[in-house]
Order: sequence, then structure tokens, then C-alpha cells
Amino acid sequence: MALINENFLKLKAGYLFPEIARRVKAFTEGNPEAAQRLIRCGIGDVTEALPEAVRYAMHEAVDELGNRSTFKGYGPEQGYDFLRNAIADNDYKARGLPIEADEIFISDGSKCDTGNILDIFGQGNTIAITDPVYPVYVDTNVMIGNTGEADENGAYAGLVYLKCTPENGFVPDIPQEKADLIYLCYPNNPTGAVATRPQLEAWVKYARENGSVLLYDAAYEAFIQDPTIPHSIFEIEGARDCAIEFRSFSKNGGFTGVRCAYVVIPKSLMGRKKNGEAQALHPLWSRRHSTKFNGASYIVQKGAEALYTDEGKSQTKALIEHYMGNAALLVEACKNAGLSVFGGVNAPYVWVGCPAGLTSWQMFDKMLNEANVVITPGSGFGSAGEGYFRISAFNSRANVEEVCRRIAALK
Ligand code: MLT
Repeated sequence: MALINENFLKLKAGYLFPEIARRVKAFTEGNPEAAQRLIRCGIGDVTEALPEAVRYAMHEAVDELGNRSTFKGYGPEQGYDFLRNAIADNDYKARGLPIEADEIFISDGSKCDTGNILDIFGQGNTIAITDPVYPVYVDTNVMIGNTGEADENGAYAGLVYLKCTPENGFVPDIPQEKADLIYLCYPNNPTGAVATRPQLEAWVKYARENGSVLLYDAAYEAFIQDPTIPHSIFEIEGARDCAIEFRSFSKNGGFTGVRCAYVVIPKSLMGRKKNGEAQALHPLWSRRHSTKFNGASYIVQKGAEALYTDEGKSQTKALIEHYMGNAALLVEACKNAGLSVFGGVNAPYVWVGCPAGLTSWQMFDKMLNEANVVITPGSGFGSAGEGYFRISAFNSRANVEEVCRRIAALK
């Protein structure tokens, strides 16, 4: 028999969202009537239709592929120039940020990118993650062998956990110890917290002093409402030398099913070889992309490009307004129910303290059984998430209004 990667055996039960799906399936099979009333606010999956500009662009792209003279086979692994240029111009240069098109790598999703990025880093790095955290960062480090076993609280040996609590506004303090790779996600999934400019400046300073790389997940940047909050780590001076940024079209453009995202790796960003020599990370990721990926589909990239047209921008804005309107209603309903509420102001996630005495999974069961609403238990995001639950604002307005009524009716 072939040897297996035993690191997989260290992983906790199921990945959070399939585990929720499993429990919901069992509930709906056992309660067919309640199943009719079920409203899903668990996984952050968009519900509204793709912007019209995207649909037109994708239809046109299909027609191009249907004609021999405009047909396209394999595209550039790193992405088509038309999309890389649109991103560089709109997301960076228009904001005065020094990012070039060839520093942008198109992919089929940030989940894959944040996991795959570990391919270009060696073993033995000290890895810091926030707690609570998007589980992909932890699980992919476990899979690749960067951790030991988990303890009884689910914390893996070898990882540095940066606790996020109401006291620090769910933005962790800069660690005393040196970490080589630090995962930061702002606006945050799951807490909805945002990092201020001074907080990000402190992280960039720390990273530059310690030779660390910040893995900055900005998948939710489009939901920021506060004009003082940075949308990109590259708004911070010096970040080109210490940060990789992940962005996605999933949540702003409604692409969770379409699949398109990108990674920015500045050419000036360096890692080091075992012998201490510096090595740029950009060519490593480019090489990795060429070897393991054949590029996002032409049709999808054409759709993503359309998000940067005037129509695309205004349709995206309307989507964001819709989801943030939902978030505001959920925040208000939870506050009126006497719960402590965080997030939901610059992010599509509302992070809520469980009623006294209930654990996160007990609250999950209560919401499922009594309100027939699916939420995400905070403990699924790490031990510091215990005692909280997350409500996703990705839903129709009618469903969110109904969720608010059911929250008000909870005993
Ligand atoms: C979530 O619910 O946290 C997100 O949908 C996960 C993801 O984007 O992969």
C-alpha cells in the first residue's frame, strides 16, 4: 500500500461548512415541515443574480469561443492581460497604489490561493494566525505538515494564535515573538472587524523588522463603508516589501459559483533560502501557477473584466448596498434581542455573543430547532470563537427580514 500524508489525520472532524451542511441535512430529513421554513445564514454564499454586465460579457465570450476565428484554447496561466490590466488600473493605480499588472495572478478562488500559497514557502517557518480565523488558513498548514497535533481545544502545536477579543476590537495585538508568516484578513471573516490604518502600519513595521511575510486576505474589501479604513495592504507604505494580497470576485461580483480571484505578489517581496540568500517570491508563484494551473477560464475572466466597466461598477455597488442593508437589519435585530453584536458595519458578517450559558454549537442547535435559521457556530473558527455565532448577510431582503422576526421571537 502507498504511504499516505498522515498530516491529514491531525485535522479536526470535518471542514466547518460541510459539517454544518451535514447537521442541517439530518435536521431537514427528520423535520420535513420545519425544513420548508429553513433560512440559511451559515456559509457566506451570495444569493443575488450575477450583474447584467457580467452576463453580457460572458455570453459574448461564449460566442467568441463558438467561432473558429476567435476561438481560444489554453490561456496564459497567470491570467489574460485584459483582466490583469483592469485590476491594476482600477484596484491599485486609480488609488495611487504601486502595483503593476504583471504582479497580479488570476485564479479560480481565494480559498485555493490562500491554501496553495504555502507551496512556495519552506518548512520550519513560524506561522501566526488570528483566533477566530477562516479555517482554511489553519487546515492547509496542518495538511502540509507545518503543525503538530491539536490539543483538546483544537489548537495545533506549532502555530502562534493571535487572540481576537472584544477588548482588542477583534484585531490582535502585535506578537512579542517573531513570526515568519502572518495571516491577516480584513474586513474579517468571521468577526466583521476592520483594521485601521495605524493598526496595519504597525503590522507592516513588524513584518519589515522581522523579515516576515503578511498574507493579507482582502476578499471583503468592497464591503468597507468607513472611508478611513484601508482597502488594500498596499495602501501602507513599505507593504510591497512584506505582503501578499488575496482578492476575490466571489462576494462583490457574486462569483461564488463562477470562480475568479487574484493574488498580488510584488516583485520586490523576498524570502530567504536556507543558506540565508534572498530570493524573490514572485517568480516562484509564477512557476507554481504554470506547473499546477492552466488559468481561469476565458469566459470567467471576461465576466470579471466586466465588473470594471461603468455598468459593472454600478451593478456591483447595488449588490454591496443590498447585502450591507441586510447586515444593518441583522445587527439591529440582535441588539434589540439584547445580544452583544460586532461586525456587520464594514463587512457582510455579523458576529454575535451567544446568550449567557450557551456554547456556540448549542446556539447553532437553538437557532436551527427553534428559529429554523442556520448560523455558523463561532467555535468552528477557533477556540476564541467559542461563545459567539456568525450570521451571514448574504441573502434576500425578505429572508433577512424574516430572520430578524425569528430572532425577536426567540425565547
Ligand atoms: C464563509 O462562509 O466563511 C465563506 O463563504 C467561506 C469562503 O469564502 O470560502
